[in-house]
Amino acid sequence: MLNCLGHLEYRGYDSCGIAVSNSSIQVYKDAVRVAELKKAIPPFEGSLGIGHTRWATHGKPSRTNAHPHVGCQNEITVVHNGIINNFLPLKQKLIEEGHAFSSETDSEVIPHLIEKYYAGDLEKAVERALADVKGSYAIIVMGYGENALIAARKDSPLIIALGDHENYLASDVPAILDYSSRVIYLEDGDIATVTADNVSFRNGGKSAKRTEHKVHWSVEEARKSGYEHYMLKEIHEQPNVIRDTIGNWLLDGEPLEDLKRMSEGGMETLLILACGTSYHAAMVGKYIVQELLGLPVRAELASEFNYYGRILPETLAIAITQSGETADVLLAIKKLKDVGCRVVAITNVIGSRVSRLADRTIITRAGPEISVAATKSFIAQLMVIYWLMMHYARVEPKRQAELVLQLRQMASRVAQVLDKESEIAGLATYFAKYDDIFFIGRGINYPVALEGALKLKEISYIHAEGFAAGELKHGPFALLGPNKPVIGIVTNDATHQAMLTNIREVKARGSPLATLVSEGDDSTDTLADFVITVPQVDPLFSPVVNTVVLQLLAYHIARVRGCPIDFPKNLAKSVTVE
Ligand code: AGP
Repeated sequence: MLNCLGHLEYRGYDSCGIAVSNSSIQVYKDAVRVAELKKAIPPFEGSLGIGHTRWATHGKPSRTNAHPHVGCQNEITVVHNGIINNFLPLKQKLIEEGHAFSSETDSEVIPHLIEKYYAGDLEKAVERALADVKGSYAIIVMGYGENALIAARKDSPLIIALGDHENYLASDVPAILDYSSRVIYLEDGDIATVTADNVSFRNGGKSAKRTEHKVHWSVEEARKSGYEHYMLKEIHEQPNVIRDTIGNWLLDGEPLEDLKRMSEGGMETLLILACGTSYHAAMVGKYIVQELLGLPVRAELASEFNYYGRILPETLAIAITQSGETADVLLAIKKLKDVGCRVVAITNVIGSRVSRLADRTIITRAGPEISVAATKSFIAQLMVIYWLMMHYARVEPKRQAELVLQLRQMASRVAQVLDKESEIAGLATYFAKYDDIFFIGRGINYPVALEGALKLKEISYIHAEGFAAGELKHGPFALLGPNKPVIGIVTNDATHQAMLTNIREVKARGSPLATLVSEGDDSTDTLADFVITVPQVDPLFSPVVNTVVLQLLAYHIARVRGCPIDFPKNLAKSVTVE
């Protein structure tokens, strides 16, 4: 069990635990890495057990919040991946019915629900309990005195690996590859009953058949789910990340009282602070705030803010940081807190220092991001900003409804962009030979041009720069020529005409040219050497689809150049020094 868990730590490593069923159910768990837990567990015999490594989404990393979770009678124990969106009302009801909870997690409602419905048949109790659950889950349930494990999945991955008089369940293939390469992938809605010698499936109340597959991956390959690099895997995870990140917000009431006070004039300035890619999310955020709330807003580089930033009274600050550990951001928060400002953090890591410093923390649900180049965390940050600002938008109800609809469609729009990967990879072979590449955009896509350039810089070592297209004539034009290709983001918004002029000016100076345009827009067909079309979306959401194109382009250019994509030289995933 511990070896399998060790192979899963790349997916989550802030706490872990196992449970074994012998004379009773014994649970060993803590906010430590698997290797530490190993030292704390007394040797035990057994043949039935479950385990979990955690990536906190609800409740900080701690022993009580670690999995497995148990019901009141300590007879039902569960490990869960995913997010139970309606856990609060379920928990409230179970407490009214006498259940006692020990953790802050959403997952703990599951063993209590199963316990509530248990009448001698564990599989039936699991099926009944899941009928009450809204959200995503991969669960494994162990009942005292049972010789089977019950597993179920919806939107979170779960597999079964077949052995000789032994069977394994896991959230991903790397966990079990040391023991088996015969794998069955559970489908959404599946409930599986697994013993050491048998596996059966039900779906929608009927029994179901599932196919066995042979896995030919090494553990390392499997960790990347067969992708060559974590970065590409994380780019392809974005549709799910979008669904997970906005999943429950569309249900909840008041996302951010501070913003409510702000939109009612209770505060004067909104300051969005960050570094690197998160700063580009802050810049996109500035345009969204201006567009939807019409409030005074600044997007500032935390590293600069720490030295000159004047803090206006009545400032509400939003600090964006994937890791939650970026020193420049932490310093900025301290500076703001010293003068009594309210600080809201948007981070991807529960329990990170930023979440302990800020007055309020909003978690993006991108899951662990391994590749140094931030991709899915950026898109998740945008989703949080869209939702927050749409909630307090000063727009007509019809417009707000339109925006909510568009937000709900973002996951499938991004999936459409991912379907264009081979086309974008083809383009990358052309651009990979250049040592200087420029990105241009206007308005809400100016920060996207900056992000495209940063991704390319980070992983391909090409000198890439992003420019506000209107600035070209004030200097950068001098750089253009046959060896200096330009990638122009030509979105169908108020900047369209001006961008077309800039595109013509770039062409006139002999730079190879690629354009990103919305489907159906042929305005650059005769100007550009290459045209990449993105799905039609409201211009406010165009940074999402445009960025995914530029992520894929940077990835494939770096791949053609044979660069160490996931761990580029001189960079760290979390910059904890000033
Ligand atoms: C982005 O790909 C880089 N890894 C880097 O610019 C990063 O965005 C920056 O260091 C900020 O990190 P944070 O979001 O964890 O604070």
